[in-house]
This record gives sequence, C-alpha cells and structure tokens, in this order.
Amino acid sequence: MQKEMIEKLHKNLLKWYAKSGRKELPWRNLQGKANRAYAVYISEIMLQQTQVKVVLEKFYFPFLQKFPTLLSLANAKEDEILKAWQGLGYYTRARNLKKAAQQCVEEFGGFLPRKKKDLLKLCGIGNYTAGAVACFGYDACESFVDANISRILLRIFALENPTTKELEARAKLILNFKEPFDHNQALLDIGALLCLPKNPKCKLCPLNAFCKGKDTPDLYTKAKKTKYENLELDLLILEFKGKFAIQKSTKKLYKGLYNFPFGEKIYLCNAKFVGEFKHTYTKYKLHIRIYHQILQKKNAKFEFKSLKELENLALSNLSLKALQIFKAQNAF
Ligand code: ADE
Repeated sequence: MQKEMIEKLHKNLLKWYAKSGRKELPWRNLQGKANRAYAVYISEIMLQQTQVKVVLEKFYFPFLQKFPTLLSLANAKEDEILKAWQGLGYYTRARNLKKAAQQCVEEFGGFLPRKKKDLLKLCGIGNYTAGAVACFGYDACESFVDANISRILLRIFALENPTTKELEARAKLILNFKEPFDHNQALLDIGALLCLPKNPKCKLCPLNAFCKGKDTPDLYTKAKKTKYENLELDLLILEFKGKFAIQKSTKKLYKGLYNFPFGEKIYLCNAKFVGEFKHTYTKYKLHIRIYHQILQKKNAKFEFKSLKELENLALSNLSLKALQIFKAQNAF
C-alpha cells in the first residue's frame, strides 16, 4: 500500500472512530490516572477470552475494586483472585495475574514495564497483550494482532494463509504513528462491530475503499474449529451434618478452584439422583449427572463446607451450576 493510501486509511479510520467507536469503554478513558497501565492490563487479560459486555457488566469494576493496584494483586492470596475471577473461566489467566504482579514487584520496581520486550517477560503476556498494554497503557507506538485485527488484515490485503509474522508486519505497515491509541482501538472496534466473520457490514466500513477482500469476505475467515470431546461425568454432593464435601483441584484444568467430587461413572449405592445438565469447558462437552448422598462419617479426602462458606470460595462454574440445581430441589 502506498504512503498516500495509508494516510487516507488513517484519516477514514479515525473519522469513523470519532463518530462510531466505543470511546466510552472505561479502559479507554484512563489517561492521567495513576493506575492506568494496570487497569488496562486487567482489561486486556479479561478481554482475551471474554466478551466486552460480560467484562464490563460483571467483572471489570468489582475486580479493580478488590485489587486496585499491582501491589494488591501481588500480595493477594491465589484463592482470593480466583474468587474474583469466578465465572470468567480460563482460570490460568487469574493464576498468571498474581505471578506477573510478583514479577513486576521483583524485577520492575512494582510497576508494569513500559517496553514491549519487558512486558513479554511477564507470565501470561504474549505478543498481542504486550503490544496492547504498551499502547493503551503507555501510549507506545506499537501494533499488534488479535483474532479481530487479523481478520481485518486478511481481508484488506486479501491474504489466504499468512503466518502470524506476516500479519504482524501488515499491522505495522498500516499503524498510525501519530495516533496509535485511537488507531488500534478503532481496529478492535471494526473487528468487533463491522468486519464480522459472517455477514460483515462492508458498506459501513471506513476501510471499504482499501479492502481487497470485500467482494469475497468469506475467503478470509479463519474458521474456528474447536474439536470438542464428549464426556459423561457423575458429580457427588456428599453431605455430612449440613456441610458439603469439596476438593481443591490440583489438575491443570481447574487448578486452584474448588469442585464437588466428580468422576466417570461413580458407583454409590444410596446416592439419590438430583438432576443433570450440560456444560462446556474448554474443549469438553460435558454431560453431568448430579447425585446426593448423606454420609455417616467424614471422608478425610475432602474439605466440608456449609452453604454460606461455599459462597466465599472459588467454586468452578460446573460446581456452581450443580449447586444451583441441588439448592432449587431442596428449597434452600
Ligand atoms: N478486546 C481486546 N482489547 C480490547 C479493547 N481495548 N477494547 C475493546 N475490546 C477489546
């Protein structure tokens, strides 16, 4: 793309952003705030796998209220962070937050580093997030690509099978060095609002005039092919004197989170069938059957908690769903 074309693209993009961009998003309005980079970092980690609406309505503000600074996060117990993350899923993100915050304390004077190459050293931060935090938290001139920006680039440049490196080079080629913040936020908005995987709104797109793929946009959509595995699991609500058995997972999937005991085809003679539900977790499509049993003695393998105590623990979504069904049936 020629220099004049790129300048025109910048102009169109910024004009569109001024009129139609999501400029009011809270993580875009932190200029001058002491914790700006930190609050941007939290937003970017949350937005990695969760929709803007969910992050905005349920998680962003409560999390920042509980952990207002990087230091508060570094000093927090992992359990507390997981509790604040409950419902967001992909809990590795939450565990990495604490590790990254500790790295910042140990290596970067208690602040998020400004340079992309240093941000990349932090747990849970890859190329995209390092670029986004540098740009949105510190106004650095950085370009980066996520799934949405990739799709825009694939279409503009009519690229069918580019490597990530090629995409990153294209993002850099069109970066607006004078207005990197608005330029990159605008790209994220176009990816989310107009340049959709299916039925993109090309007529409304400010990049229409520069887009080589606009007549065949489907050619440039990387189909998201998650291969799901079906799994049937029995989940046990084991009750002893009004308290319920839970286990903290040490496995990779739910690591650090609490779950009711579950496994494949658990055999229990007196267990009462409570109900069943479907649940998707990462690559698993789970069919969960819930059983309830009152125990005569405690089993040392488990911790026993009252319903009130359960409210303050980071239960997995799977266990929360089971608990809701159980509570509804037993009119708690
Ligand atoms: N997704 C990732 N980063 C984002 C941002 N800064 N604004 C909106 N959506 C995003």
